[in-house]
Amino acid sequence: MLPMSLIVSVDRTDPRTLPVQIADGIRAAIDSARIEPNTRLPSSRALSVELEVARGVVESAYDQLTAEGWLQPRAGSGTFVRRLSGVTTPTRPSTTSRTAGTTETLGRLRLATGTPWVPPSSAAWKRAWRDVSAVPQPQEYPDPRGDHRLRAALADLLGRARGLHTSAESIVVTTGSMHGMSLALAALSTEDGTSRPVLAHENPGYRVATTAARRWGWSVFDVPVDLDGIVTERLDMTPRTTRAVYVTPSHQYPTGGLLTVGRRRALASYARSRDAMIIEDDYDSEFRYDVAPLPTIAELAPDRTVYLGTVAKTLGGGIRLGWLVAPPDVVELIAHVRTDLGDYPSTPVQHAMLSLLRDGEWDRTVRAARRVYRQRDKLVAAALAPFGELRGVGAGMHTTLLLDATVAVAVAERAAAAGVDVDTLAKSTRAPSPMTGLIVGYGSVSDDELAYGLDVLVDALTSVS
Ligand SMILES: Cc1ncc(COP(=O)(O)O)c(C=O)c1O
Repeated sequence: MLPMSLIVSVDRTDPRTLPVQIADGIRAAIDSARIEPNTRLPSSRALSVELEVARGVVESAYDQLTAEGWLQPRAGSGTFVRRLSGVTTPTRPSTTSRTAGTTETLGRLRLATGTPWVPPSSAAWKRAWRDVSAVPQPQEYPDPRGDHRLRAALADLLGRARGLHTSAESIVVTTGSMHGMSLALAALSTEDGTSRPVLAHENPGYRVATTAARRWGWSVFDVPVDLDGIVTERLDMTPRTTRAVYVTPSHQYPTGGLLTVGRRRALASYARSRDAMIIEDDYDSEFRYDVAPLPTIAELAPDRTVYLGTVAKTLGGGIRLGWLVAPPDVVELIAHVRTDLGDYPSTPVQHAMLSLLRDGEWDRTVRAARRVYRQRDKLVAAALAPFGELRGVGAGMHTTLLLDATVAVAVAERAAAAGVDVDTLAKSTRAPSPMTGLIVGYGSVSDDELAYGLDVLVDALTSVS
């Protein structure tokens, strides 16, 4: 279904009342088949937030259309468009706008955190692959650091989008953030083969990063996170063998904090005093809707930071392309590791990415996704705010609702019983933490599915709290 904002709009200078304008818009859309029979409409709460009108205005429009036979409310599951013959069958929201397999398993709806909204395949996307096929098949093994032209284009992107001043020489093309993480860990562990290196890691935090560390023979030391991100005051407790600290300073995963300037400086001086590296995972910094993102730690401490970026949150997780920015000695170590492992970046994928960057497709995608997320972020915040403190609002594609741990589990279980899966913070937590609650992802679902998922969550929260 088209976004409701393209179907109905309200104009306060229009002589028709607001409920009449909304009813007229929906009626016309059903009549012209722009909304299909059995489609579930957004809840009156969700649509009222989207249109910035009182909820009663939308309820009155829905009541009118129900009375006229266009809509049919179904107890507990929402308001649906009737077949004009009057025959309806119960339905869940359409799944066409979603990446198959990412959010729905056996009819379940998953409010997953990591999967982004991606626009439909564009002309630029097709052009990029035509560009790739127009050049001869690449016979040579590629540069293990990545194609120089792509690295230069990425340096340009990082400069204008993140204020990170770097050059092609400091960049390595990877297959994503976690690949960059693995390369950094492999390179840094070769520096000192005598003791097991330690990675200091956020708790709660991104567990894939800790798993990767253990795979590379590192131990993991949990550093607590509070509302402002990693508690740098607690870094003093890290073992002497700590070689790196992994952080998500732009939008702490999963608790949403923005690492304060004071803590960024403390982290940089910790890294210098301990001869350790900071691994800065900037996984979704393209998406901020409240304030401009803070400058990267890599800009603040370029000699001490391995900065990780990825296309997984913009162009999609299946492309497998990312980048890291590191000091020259680390770049050189990583190039050796890759050659030793036979781990070269794919030439065609790199060429396609270069074409997408040159074509402006990256910027267009980021702008389009920002518009979608900004609205969803507001919807999620409006629906969940009455139940607890929200974190990470105004950024990314997930919001965290802080709740007592037992309440969070009970709500997740109730939502699961109604077919909606949502993670608790416990899934991202290794050591006990006072940060407990739910993580609500809104990237990979359609607008209808999100409204449905929120209704289920609100019901579960209401009955549990
Ligand atoms: C904090 C964080 N870092 C990294 C990633 C994954 O990035 P990539 O697929 O590029 O490894 C995710 C994905 O959800 C994430 O949440």
